[in-house]
Amino acid sequence: MKKAFITGIDGQDGSYLAEFLLGKGYKVYGMVRRVALEDPEHHLWRIKHVLNKITLYPASLESYPSIFKIVENIKPNECYHLAAQSFVSYSFEDEFSTINTNINGTHFVLSAIKENAPKCKFYFAASSEMFGMVKETPQTEKTPFHPRSPYGISKVAGFDLTRNYREAYNIFACNGILFNHESPRRGFEFVTRKITSTVAQIKLGLADELKLGNLEAKRDWGFAGDYIKAMWLMLQQDKADDYVIATNETHSVREFVELAFDYAGLNWKKYVKIDKTFYRPAEVHLLIGDYSKARKKLKWAPSVKFEELVKMMIEADMQRMQAITKGRKCNH
Ligand code: GDD
Repeated sequence: MKKAFITGIDGQDGSYLAEFLLGKGYKVYGMVRRVALEDPEHHLWRIKHVLNKITLYPASLESYPSIFKIVENIKPNECYHLAAQSFVSYSFEDEFSTINTNINGTHFVLSAIKENAPKCKFYFAASSEMFGMVKETPQTEKTPFHPRSPYGISKVAGFDLTRNYREAYNIFACNGILFNHESPRRGFEFVTRKITSTVAQIKLGLADELKLGNLEAKRDWGFAGDYIKAMWLMLQQDKADDYVIATNETHSVREFVELAFDYAGLNWKKYVKIDKTFYRPAEVHLLIGDYSKARKKLKWAPSVKFEELVKMMIEADMQRMQAITKGRKCNH
């Protein structure tokens, strides 16, 4: 039985990936922060339904010994390194911890693999945020990086570390340059989920406004459930390589807002307020990925279109909010 080790297994991507790998017959191990094990209700809600099928280890991206011990113990066949401080806005508030955690964390996982399981195939969650001030449109694996945030800078360093471990130590190490990917499991701080969860609250009379920053930013938004399959496919190839994973479509935050409010039968102009505190010191204005290489080599393509994604997220948040309000009424 193949053994897969996932860092960040309790996040959006980690939860979909764990389900997917269990379905393929893998033995799945995950690394989470100790606090998550102490308070599973809050931290492990995305993987609640598979907790009895996976093995979790507490560790910290800031501690090399904690990661080293896990890899030494499991000796995985595949490692998916997804854990990071992944909220771009927060990376401006605390540059130092984002840069330290993200770069050192990746370095620690790579080094632990080199020392304990050099045959283990390694996936690094790189990001379209690395393109930043884009040098060409659409962006491909060959587009030069120009990161615009401490988070983006940390991902460029992680990308370079991954490539260097491939070239210097012959580790099967791949970079997935994933463009924005969303789902009903997305964290509430990211713009798509902030929009769909607030629209659901407005619809049920639990909120009366939605405060947002830059509505003109454009992103290439796909479905997380599709993207984790690309991660796995990368590790099934004969040669380690780097791939752009995207939809090759771009939409503005404004379009997402309009569509989300439309699905709920509401006029967005009545509820959306622009709040400058949500603007970033340096913005990434336009992202759109050309995934031709993944299509050709991995035979991968996205299955969920933008409109379906917005609908899926709105419907899930409406159901969730309805269940919460019903529960509240019952309790009283
Ligand atoms: N979060 C947030 N909140 N973003 C807002 C808001 C707001 O109130 N108003 C406007 N935006 C704009 C941001 O300025 C940005 O241009 C866009 O919405 C998307 O923001 P996020 O959803 O926070 O995602 P991101 O693009 O910064 O980063 C995500 O995608 C990357 C891949 O490109 C994250 O998932 C990263 O971890 C990932 O690497």
